[in-house]
Amino acid sequence: MVIRDPVIQREALLPPHMPAQNGQHIDYKLLTLVRTLPKIELHRHLEGSVRLETLIDIALKYGIEMPEYDPEMLRPFVQMMPDENRTSQHFLSKFSMLRQFYRSNDVVARVTREAVEDAAADNIHYMELRFTPMALCNVTKSPLEDIVALVAETVCETAKTCGIQVKLIASMNRHEAVEIGEKVMKAAIANMHKGVVALDLAGDEANFSALPFRGLFQQAREAGLGITIHAGEWSGANSVWDAIGNMNAKRIGHGIRALEDIAMINVLVEREIVLEVCPSSNYLSGIVDSLDNHPLILLTDHDVLTTINTDDPSVCNITLSEEIVRTMTHIGLTLEDIKKYTLRAARAAFLPNSERDALVRQFQAALARF
Ligand code: HPA
Ligand code: ZN
Repeated sequence: MVIRDPVIQREALLPPHMPAQNGQHIDYKLLTLVRTLPKIELHRHLEGSVRLETLIDIALKYGIEMPEYDPEMLRPFVQMMPDENRTSQHFLSKFSMLRQFYRSNDVVARVTREAVEDAAADNIHYMELRFTPMALCNVTKSPLEDIVALVAETVCETAKTCGIQVKLIASMNRHEAVEIGEKVMKAAIANMHKGVVALDLAGDEANFSALPFRGLFQQAREAGLGITIHAGEWSGANSVWDAIGNMNAKRIGHGIRALEDIAMINVLVEREIVLEVCPSSNYLSGIVDSLDNHPLILLTDHDVLTTINTDDPSVCNITLSEEIVRTMTHIGLTLEDIKKYTLRAARAAFLPNSERDALVRQFQAALARF
């Protein structure tokens, strides 16, 4: 396909951070208020946080053949659209497309820098950004350890410039080889001093068990890394049992299908396991049929520790402020509830005790001003 100049479309003319629509109305007044609130993000994938304009720049620079070269036309290839097939497979297919873009270390550094800048612009004060090293070195074949160090160093520099605190979670996919996971685990441990705080298992939960990765996660835990596992998203409560009982997860990515088994809910409460809930992602990947029916409040009413997150801001076309507004307008949370969710997220940060206590105090003080 011949590369043509990008055409300036409606998207390029909009101010940055216009709210995601996904076919749904958003309350702008509320959004303006929520944007000013200091926020915490515990579950955000770097690979799902790439600006459309950046993808186009990269494609033009590296001669990547793309179906389209303007943001609006590219959007359906990398983002979930409202009228699309809302399935886990389709959701994950967007990440295969995105993997084609990591052509050099410069690209990885740029995408990382912009992800931190975008979070800071949305007034996120603390973020745990997860990244899948294998996705970032898929094309360049750069050593995985080098990519982990590059992301960690870029995050440190950008976070300092933007006045935001960012820690890293290294992810591996359960539908990929355990040998890849082993490299990720080792690189994560080697980069703990550069801000890597935890290990995550993501990927196709519907068709792949977590169990082959059990030994890796045990080593990570013994080395002092936090453990979070995507579970109870595209598979049921059994998968959450595995994540807690066998993988020793202290936090669960999504976890909402734990509700299919009340005994599982009791374990979550007793062990104070935190759920990193991502409502828009759950809707777009087909777990809930509408945001209005999302079980976030039901889980919280059962005393499960829940937090609100975006998962993949660019794939879901959402910012954290927009996600929070949606929980208010569709699920019924109040501003006071949002403050509680934010403090709960601070208490769940994968930080040493003294730093976590300081983070909680910082947020208590900042939120008290609202
Ligand atoms: N689930 C599993 N893997 C993922 C997800 C998710 O929601 N987002 C990116 N990788
Ligand atoms: Zn996720």
